[in-house]
Amino acid sequence: MSARAASNRIDDRSIHRETSVVTVDAPNDLALIHDPGVALVHWQRAMPAALREGLESTADGTLPHVRFSAPLRAVEQATVAAFEAAGIGSSVARHLLIGDIVLLAILYSHVEQAEWLSVRLERIDHDACRKPHVDRVTTRLLCTYRGAGTEFGQTGVENEDWRCDLSLRRFDVGLVKGLLHPSARSSDTSKLLHRSPRFTADSQERFLLCIGSAEPPRPRARDAGLLH
Ligand SMILES: [Fe+2]
Repeated sequence: MSARAASNRIDDRSIHRETSVVTVDAPNDLALIHDPGVALVHWQRAMPAALREGLESTADGTLPHVRFSAPLRAVEQATVAAFEAAGIGSSVARHLLIGDIVLLAILYSHVEQAEWLSVRLERIDHDACRKPHVDRVTTRLLCTYRGAGTEFGQTGVENEDWRCDLSLRRFDVGLVKGLLHPSARSSDTSKLLHRSPRFTADSQERFLLCIGSAEPPRPRARDAGLLH
C-alpha cells in the first residue's frame, strides 16, 4: 500500500474532529497526514531508558546545533558528522539518538515521497517561536528529545486567547501539515496552530529535531552543459 493510499484508514475513533489531530501508535500511520481532515499526526512512543538517561545526563550547550540539506542516503553520515563536530563521544545513547534521527528521516522521506530532506537539530534555551502560527511548508516532522515539546492549539484574531489543546511530550513525533499542503486550503486544518513552549529559569534546555523536504541543489550551468 502506498503512503497516500494509507490515508484511507482514518476513522472517527482516532481523530479529534475539533482539533484535526489524529493520535497514532505506529509509524505506518504517519501517512494519515495526507487526509484532508488531519492537521497533525501525533505519534506517541516509548524510548529506551539508555537514551532517556543519556540525554538527561548531557550537559546544556553540548548537543549539536546544525541545519543541513541532504539526500536521504546521506542523512546518517551528516548526522554523525554533526555529533563528531560537537565533540559528543561514542556511547550507547549517542548511537540510539542518531539511529532515531535517521529512522525519522526515513519515515518522513517515505510519507512525503521526498528524496532530499532538510534536517535541523536545535538546542533551544529561550522562548524561541511563541507566536502561534502555521508553517509555510507542505509538512514538517518535529521531535523534542530534551525539554518541553511544541504546543498545539487554536486562537482567535488576538493571540491572547490562545488555547493550548496539546503539548507534545519528549520523544513524541508530531507530523504537522503546513499551508502549502494540497489539502490545507480546502479544509479547516490550517486552524491548528503551534508555538514553542515558554522557557523559564527552571526549564531544561530543549533539543529539537525538525525534518522537512528540500530542493536538490541546482547543477551549475557549466555542469549542466549550458556553457561551453
Ligand atoms: Fe513552526
